[in-house]
Amino acid sequence: ICGKMVKICCIGAGYVGGPTMAVIALKCPAIEVVVVDIAKPRIDAWNSEQLPIYEPGLDEVVKECRGRNLFFSTDVEKHVAEADIIFVSVNTPTKTRGLGAGKAADLTYWESAARMIADVSKSDKIVVEKSTVPVKTAEAIEKILTHNSKGINYQILSNPEFLAEGTAIEDLFKPDRVLIGGRETPEGKKAVQALKEVYAHWVPEDRIITTNLWSAELSKLAANAFLAQRISSVNAISALCEATGANVSEVAYAVGKDTRIGPKFLNASVGFGGSCFQKDILNLVYICECNGLPEVANYWKQVIKINDYQKSRFVNRVVASMFNTVSGKKIAVLGFAFKKDTGDTRETPAIDVCHGLLGDKAQISIYDPQVTEDQIQRDLSMAKFDWDHPRHLQPTSPTAFKQVSVVWDAYEATKGAHGLCILTEWDEFKTLDYQRIFDNMQKPAFVFDGRNVVDPEKLREIGFIVYSIGKPLDAWLKDMPAVA
Ligand code: UDX
Ligand code: UDX
Ligand code: ADP
Repeated sequence: ICGKMVKICCIGAGYVGGPTMAVIALKCPAIEVVVVDIAKPRIDAWNSEQLPIYEPGLDEVVKECRGRNLFFSTDVEKHVAEADIIFVSVNTPTKTRGLGAGKAADLTYWESAARMIADVSKSDKIVVEKSTVPVKTAEAIEKILTHNSKGINYQILSNPEFLAEGTAIEDLFKPDRVLIGGRETPEGKKAVQALKEVYAHWVPEDRIITTNLWSAELSKLAANAFLAQRISSVNAISALCEATGANVSEVAYAVGKDTRIGPKFLNASVGFGGSCFQKDILNLVYICECNGLPEVANYWKQVIKINDYQKSRFVNRVVASMFNTVSGKKIAVLGFAFKKDTGDTRETPAIDVCHGLLGDKAQISIYDPQVTEDQIQRDLSMAKFDWDHPRHLQPTSPTAFKQVSVVWDAYEATKGAHGLCILTEWDEFKTLDYQRIFDNMQKPAFVFDGRNVVDPEKLREIGFIVYSIGKPLDAWLKDMPAVA
């Protein structure tokens, strides 16, 4: 690395690899960055005008660097062979079968990437773990590489990514911290330093934390577990608010004012989603169990249980309010992505809510500004945990198709509906013409706000019966028993 131009290769052109490498290329014009992936359609999309992921600000960054020092390619082996630093950002879904099914991380993609690196490398490499992997994966990867090394020196680093979708570019430009874990040997320290120099192009020195390998790996799992725990904590309180007449927004505000707690990540919701929280907590739980710590495992498992409870509680509210049946009734679903400003639907609470409503034979009409009909139909017809294995798709259930329509407009979705569920906090849902929506709905017209985006009082003035998570209940809902 000394002197000559550094070459970086990233294996995996997904939600993490793509944006992260684009920002490295933007901030380090002297570094050549190549993102490789085995999925040709993905690489083609990265090379086109229509990038494969929607992320505010990403288009501009890619436009500026692509063809200059940022490249996307399917020629995995060539670019791995040429690189000094290899980021591995392949998918690590939850295992669906075998030992640890439903909990442990499936490291198939990681292992095959590592073996490929060992096969094609002819010069020393720094291999950087970018995707979240369980603690001690670095050790396994190190073994694969050194046992096949042909005299090549490999240094493994853990450099977990903390970006959140929807704000990826912002998070990459101004990270709270960059975390780099490595071996505490002289070679290990040198590798940490080399990666640190890459980030130091734009990240202040005091925000670059270096630790040992295991601390870096565990910090990522712990950070996601803490964040998810805050949401489950406030969601648990939201159920109690509904039962007592407290208002969860007021409670969260008052609690968050304590500087020891802080105001962020205290928004009650229909439940958290996304590719990380559930997967990483399941991982953490599994690691605890493997290390003989069942009490610790159960403690974290509860975060997921409350999340599941929150989703089923929401469905029960909908069904109970509407005279205990939604059979044959049109229900509009506004928002399908797991959060606003992304088209990503992995683990979105909308999937479970829709399944719940479909189970009660509702007719669902869905609108999301960034999610395609194809994606929604696929998500609803897949069994749990299958989102990351498109090749193992379950046969599409015909009932799901018939009962679900996807439209490109909120007014279309709500026309003639008995109820409307807001499942993603898209800004545009705050400013819809709710009078117009009310006029075109069946009466009584219900709004179930799973993200607290509407003002319940204003909607009640229009005539809606409104349920908002954790807010004082309408007289109507008070009479309807609705706990799971
Ligand atoms: C607590 C609340 O902080 C306060 O707001 C409330 O009004 C009363 O309860 P107190 O019990 O006096 O105050 O002390 P606190 O500083 O919160 O510590 C409570 C316990 O937690 C202590 O045993 C402390 O040693 C322990 N603690 C605190 C930890 O173990 N780790 C920490 O990081 C912080
Ligand atoms: C998360 C972490 O924030 C990020 O640091 C890590 O790298 C990957 O996982 P992401 O899943 O992209 O990022 O989005 P995040 O903003 O954390 O939201 C996760 C879920 O929690 C979403 O479904 C969101 O709607 C929900 N959420 C978030 C709440 O319900 N309430 C909140 O207060 C915050
Ligand atoms: P994340 O959200 O962690 O970025 P994604 O699923 O979006 O995860 O992206 C992971 C990418 O890694 C996918 O595009 C997948 O095709 C790619 N990938 C998986 N295994 C390999 C491999 N051995 N070589 C190259 N790319 C791979």
